[in-house]
Amino acid sequence: MFKGKRIWITGASSGIGQALAEQLAAQGALLVLSARRRAQLQQLAESLPGQGHQVLPLDLADLDDALPKARAVLADHPVDILINNAGISQRSRVQDTDLAVYRRLMEVDYFAVVALTQLVLPTLLAKGQGQVVTVASVAGKVGSKLRSGYSGAKFAAVGFMDCLRAEVAGQGVGCLTVFPGYVQTDIAKAALTATGQAQDHSDPGVDGGISPGQCAQAIVQAMAKGKDELIVGRGISVLAPRLQRFFPGLVRKMVARSQYT
Ligand SMILES: NC(=O)c1ccc[n+]([C@@H]2O[C@H](COP(=O)([O-])OP(=O)(O)OC[C@H]3O[C@@H](n4cnc5c(N)ncnc54)[C@H](OP(=O)(O)O)[C@@H]3O)[C@@H](O)[C@H]2O)c1
Repeated sequence: MFKGKRIWITGASSGIGQALAEQLAAQGALLVLSARRRAQLQQLAESLPGQGHQVLPLDLADLDDALPKARAVLADHPVDILINNAGISQRSRVQDTDLAVYRRLMEVDYFAVVALTQLVLPTLLAKGQGQVVTVASVAGKVGSKLRSGYSGAKFAAVGFMDCLRAEVAGQGVGCLTVFPGYVQTDIAKAALTATGQAQDHSDPGVDGGISPGQCAQAIVQAMAKGKDELIVGRGISVLAPRLQRFFPGLVRKMVARSQYT
């Protein structure tokens, strides 16, 4: 299914993105690996099975700088699949949070998804095949405390993917939106606090999540099956969106009563 396919993965320097790179390379994919940390990407590329993987370091909070670099690489090596996985989370209350933090979350978690999708879409449509995968979050279905900017950006990305799916229906391009619950990665450590600093420590929710490898395996399976949506994880973080469909009032009460870190 993925043998010889060129797949662009953002956020490949750690966590879910790194695990996706390892699993897709094992299935014969040729990868374009993006994130800010060049050294981690380089090390990953060298460790992967197969030849011809590329490293494309980008800061997705600075799309004016990132897009020309990406365009130059894609011009020579068009991709078959884009995985919008890079993301940054938040741990701060609405009343305390600088507007700049909201803007940064929107840049990385929403505008980068839009811009990178726009970059690859003409090629996918011209070929009449390919996929756009966006790793959103359960926070893109259920809002909770301390994540107003993150949740807002993820809800926006989910809406964007729904619209994209409708627009390209019947033209051979798949659109998969992924809703992970907690996954044991650096996401909480890197999460922005009220003033935009990294939180710099993990939290019990994330530490109790599934492994990045388990999450990546479910994503790769959903991609292979051409699914539109995947909710992946364990416990209340993945039950909440399902509960919300039938008992929205109950879920509102649950999140209001829960202590989030
Ligand atoms: N872990 C969870 O519990 C969980 C739950 C739901 C959804 N998710 C989503 O899963 C995705 C992957 O996150 P993860 O859990 O694997 O966390 P992670 O280990 O912190 O990975 C985040 C990735 O995003 C990249 N990134 C962050 N800011 C960037 C920027 N400005 N420009 C380019 N790349 C940037 C990071 O690379 P650099 O630092 O090298 O730039 C890193 O590779 C995210 O979209 C996240 O929202 C995670």
